[in-house]
Parts: sequence; structure tokens; C-alpha cells
Amino acid sequence: MSDNVSKNVAKIISPRINEPTHVTSSQYDKLYAQSINDPDAFWAEQAKNLNWYKMPTKISNWSYDPVSIKWFEDGVMNICHNAVDRHVEAGKGDVVAMIFEPDDTQGEARHITYGQLLSDIIKMAGTLKKMGVKKGDRVTIYMPMIVEGAVAMLACARIGAIHSVVFGGFSPDALAGRIKDCQSRFVICGDGGWRGGKSVPLKANVDAALKQVDVDGVLVIKHSCIDIDMQDGRDYDYDEYSADVGDICPCEPMNAEDPLFILYTSGSTGSPKGVLHSIGGYATWVAATFKYIFDYKAGEIFWCTADIGWVTGHSYVVYGPLINGASQVIFEGVPNHPDFGRFWQIIAKHRVNIFYTAPTAIRALMREGDAPVKAHDRSSLRLLGTVGEPINPEAWRWYFDVVGEGKSPIVDTWWQTETGGVMISTLPGAHGMKPGSAGKPFFGIKPQLVDNEGNILDGATSGNLCITDSWPGQARTVYGDHERFIQTYFSTYKGKYFTGDGCRRDEDEYYWITGRVDDVINVSGHRMGTAEIESALVSHPLVAEAAVVGYPHDIKGQGIYCYVTLNAGEQHSDELVAQLRAHVRQEIGPIATPEHLHVTPALPKTRSGKIMRRILRKIAENDFAALGDISTLADPSVVDSLIEGRLNK
Ligand code: WT7
Repeated sequence: MSDNVSKNVAKIISPRINEPTHVTSSQYDKLYAQSINDPDAFWAEQAKNLNWYKMPTKISNWSYDPVSIKWFEDGVMNICHNAVDRHVEAGKGDVVAMIFEPDDTQGEARHITYGQLLSDIIKMAGTLKKMGVKKGDRVTIYMPMIVEGAVAMLACARIGAIHSVVFGGFSPDALAGRIKDCQSRFVICGDGGWRGGKSVPLKANVDAALKQVDVDGVLVIKHSCIDIDMQDGRDYDYDEYSADVGDICPCEPMNAEDPLFILYTSGSTGSPKGVLHSIGGYATWVAATFKYIFDYKAGEIFWCTADIGWVTGHSYVVYGPLINGASQVIFEGVPNHPDFGRFWQIIAKHRVNIFYTAPTAIRALMREGDAPVKAHDRSSLRLLGTVGEPINPEAWRWYFDVVGEGKSPIVDTWWQTETGGVMISTLPGAHGMKPGSAGKPFFGIKPQLVDNEGNILDGATSGNLCITDSWPGQARTVYGDHERFIQTYFSTYKGKYFTGDGCRRDEDEYYWITGRVDDVINVSGHRMGTAEIESALVSHPLVAEAAVVGYPHDIKGQGIYCYVTLNAGEQHSDELVAQLRAHVRQEIGPIATPEHLHVTPALPKTRSGKIMRRILRKIAENDFAALGDISTLADPSVVDSLIEGRLNK
């Protein structure tokens, strides 16, 4: 999607805001300057918004060469205490923390107060201890999008265990790989979940995964009440097993640099990386970004539609809102069930004030026209947000004009799993917006654009987006592979963090993210590594070689286009194509389902045998005129046959 960068849409839009916001334009300028000129003083001040058992005195201590990142290193705290206990201790136990809206429209919404949330967490934390989970242990969480998913994460944090949440849409193989990679000895899962009226067999997937890897215990939380198998001595029914667990389980005092969680994400090469975040810096970062960007005020209802299986769910469903004592909606279902008005119906029902979702959802809903939106009262809305991929101005306009009726500002928040929280976004009240531009750097963030050789580009220009200085929420390492962390993020441009994104900076110093410049595909805001899908394809016995590229997709942003060559003697057939697509789903999960599977006699290779992806990308984009120089190909005639075979031209 590159139309978001065209220059003729660079007008600034400033809706009238009736209420005071946390920061005005001049306050932003002042605070941003402070955060850059004296980051330690700025972040020491921000850290005071959290409760510490021992206040940090050392604020930042980082280097990008060699790579070592520490924030608040002598501070001691517990993030669960900050998210829940302290609100209850401050007399806010009756404030609603979560409003659970089930997938089933016949089901009742459930209101959970901070007081109730605290007892639920204490119970689960005590149960984990009873199972033998200790400080520093990795616990894999594979849950539907229900309150208990957040409870499981917070229970781990409470006792100092490191959570690794795996999205419920990942396959048993993908789950097994993630359990193995971090040597997780424990799994917390639901029996099943519901999405759009269909049941998701979570426990059955865990059983399948555990054929490949052993664990000490599986804690099963009943939710969908489907039939499941329980293995004696390994699987524990949460209700039964927790029956004799007491109501006392204090928060473990943790060093700020102790790990909080691992979250797997795709890169351009190899298997998914276990991105590791530590406690104190992450807590401070999500607390500050939530407060300023979503401009949250007590009493408001916030709703982020992300699943806890993604970083957005970690930072802006679980930790950011709760640390700020917010009230929020947790929704198990999907936007198009029972109809395309579901999001808007929930906004009306729970009087949502701040709504945060992904461009892919906005585009899919926009396609259904205005009627489903207008059928529901959205007068409670005052701020809208997007995340996950560039938003095209057309979708932005629809979100702004139709959903928000022209009165709610939009925050287009650019960030990554590795950044822990939002890095670039306008702040409501401080900045006007440009449809398609994320806007301005958050406090403490110094973006830099460089060319492919690493030369710094100044002024209004386009380049590769780097961040020069560390920030508290930055990932600390790749679990178990610090070298890979260094290689992936700090070696392309030495001494800088490289985001993998291309970006334009305009005359007003607004940043426009143009998408990944590496071999990462962004499908509906979810990152997929081409190498991962290729290795899934070649693991099929009939496949010789595979090359995977992204191409523009109207709804998903990018779709997955796979080129495959078969082993000698194998014949192309529709059944085979269906089989290969099913194979990828099975290996990775439904989110990796190829849109196009192009069986070809050969792939375009240079004489040294390197696949020319540039050509494959152009063909997938249906852009045959711009193939560029193909003279270095070992066999240029391959190109004609690829064009001939382009699917759905
Ligand atoms: C990649 C990170 C951040 C949580 C969800 C995705 C793309 C993310 C935006 C945005 C343009 C965006 C980037 C980034 N991206 N937000 N507002 N505008 N692009 O997290 O899976 O780690 O993916 O998503 O390409 O690098 P992730």
C-alpha cells in the first residue's frame, strides 16, 4: 500500500477537541525537548508514576555497540502490583477493570472489578506455585481472548515467571516450536475458544503439540466446555486443582531488568525469534504511551480489539490500560459475526470512548458500506486509533468521517513487537493529523532515516527507518540468542537500531511508514517471515523449492504469494494446490494460508543460483512492465513462463 505516501494528501487535519488533553502542542514540544536533552531526568520522572519497592537511582545504561540495554537497573518492582494491587490498595477495588463481551451475542457481558481481578490473579498465581512454577520459569499461555488470558499473564508476572503467549490461531507445530525454543515446562490453556460461532480446539492442539515436546504441567481453564482429553499427572483442571489454594500470594519483588515476557515474532530469516522484554522499562513505557497517546482519563471506557497473543494485546489490553487503572472492553469474537455491525454494536452497548483497531479490520468493514455503522450509536466515541500496518488515506477518511463522524481524532500508532509500545504517533490535542502518516516521535524517540549505505539523510526525504537512542520499552535480547538480536537489529547500520521499515519524513517532520524493506510480509497487521512459509512448503514431500513474496491485497494490506517447483515427475493439479495450502496452515496456522500458490517449472535464478525475488515480487504484483534487468538470469525464458502462469491476472 503505497498511496499513503503521495504528497497531495499532506494537509493537516485538526478536529475540534472539546475537553482538555494531557498535553497541548507547546507542552509536547517542551516535553519532547526535555526527553531528548536529558532522557534520564525525563524517565526518572515518568518512573514515579509506578510503585517501586526500591526506587531506581540508575536510569539508563545502554550501548548499541556492543549491544547491552538496561533501564532502571537498580530498581525493584512488580508489574502485577502496579497493574492491579495498587489500585485496590488506593480504594479503587470497585472500579471496573474489564467488561468481557463474549463471542456469542446471546451470552451476557461480564463486569470484572479491580478487586475481583486481584482475587482471580492471586488464585491463579497460587495455583501455578502449587504446580511447581518458580521465579524465572517460562510458562506458555495458549488461550482464547478472555479475561483469564490476562489473569494468566498477570499471575505469572506476580510470581516472577516469564510468560510466552502463543496466539490461539497458531498450529500445534508452531506451538511446539515455541515451547521448545524457550524450554517452557508449563502450559496454561483454555479447553477451547469461540470465534464467530466456531469453536477453536485449544486443548486438543496442546495435546498434539505435546507429542513433540514434554512439559511438567498443563493447566486447563474451562471456557467453551467442549470435550477434551486430560492426561493424568500432566493436565490439571483449573477449577478442581485450585480449590484448596488460599487467597494469599504476595507479589514477588523483581529487579527492573528481570525478564517479563517472551513473544515470538517473524523476521526475514529463520524461525520466529523470542523477543524478550524486561519489567521496569516496559512498565514505564507502556504506562506513559497509554496515558499520552490514548489520552486516557478516569471513568472512560477503552477498547483495543487486539488478541493477547500479539504485542498490541500485551501492551494495550493488559499492561498499559491496567497500570493506568483504566476500564476496558475485552472481546472474544470477530468483527463480522453475527454481522458487520458487531464492533459498532459493542461500542454502543458499552459506551466506548476510545477505540483502537487495525487498518485491515477498517478496510473489511468499510467494504460493507455505512449502514452497519450508522445502525449503532457511536456518540460515546472521542478518540480512534489504528495499528499494525500503514493505513491508506481512503480507509482513514472513512474511519474519521463515518465511524467518528468527523469529531474524533485518529492516532495512527507505529511500533513493533521489539519496541514494546508506540514509538511514532500524533498526540490528540497536541498535533493535527495527516491521513496515512503516523506523525511525530513519542517522548525520548529519535528517528533517523538512512540510505542503503547507512548515510544519514536530513530534512524532507525517504529512507530506512532507524532509531538512534534506546528507550525504556525496547526489547533486551532474543531469548537464548543474543547474537541473533545483534545481527537482526544492530548490524545493518552499526550503532543504530534498524526497524526493517521504509519511511518518508515530510516538510512538517511528520513520519510516513511505507512498509517493510526486508523479506517480512505484513498480512492483516500480522508479521510473517517469507523464510518460515518457504520452509513449511519445502517440508512437503512433493515440493522441491519454494519462494514466497508479499503482494498488495485490498483488505489484508499484503497477501501471501507462493511460487513452488515440484520434485521431478510430479504433476501439477488442483488437489495438490489445495493440499499444499492445507499443509502451510497445518505447519504454521490459518494466518499463514497462501492466497496464491503458483506451481512453476522453474524459479528465476542468477548464474550463481540465487533466486531473484525482485522479479517474483513484480510478477506477484502484476507489474510486468517493471521487471528491471533480467539479463543476469541463468535462463531468462523462465520469466515468460512465470508471467504466463501468474494466477488471477
Ligand atoms: C511492523 C511491526 C505494533 C503492533 C502490531 C504489529 C508495521 C505497525 C504500523 C503503523 C505503518 C505499521 C511495521 C512494523 N506497522 N504499525 N501504524 N503504520 N506500519 O507488530 O507484528 O511487530 O509488526 O508492523 O511494518 O515494522 P509487529
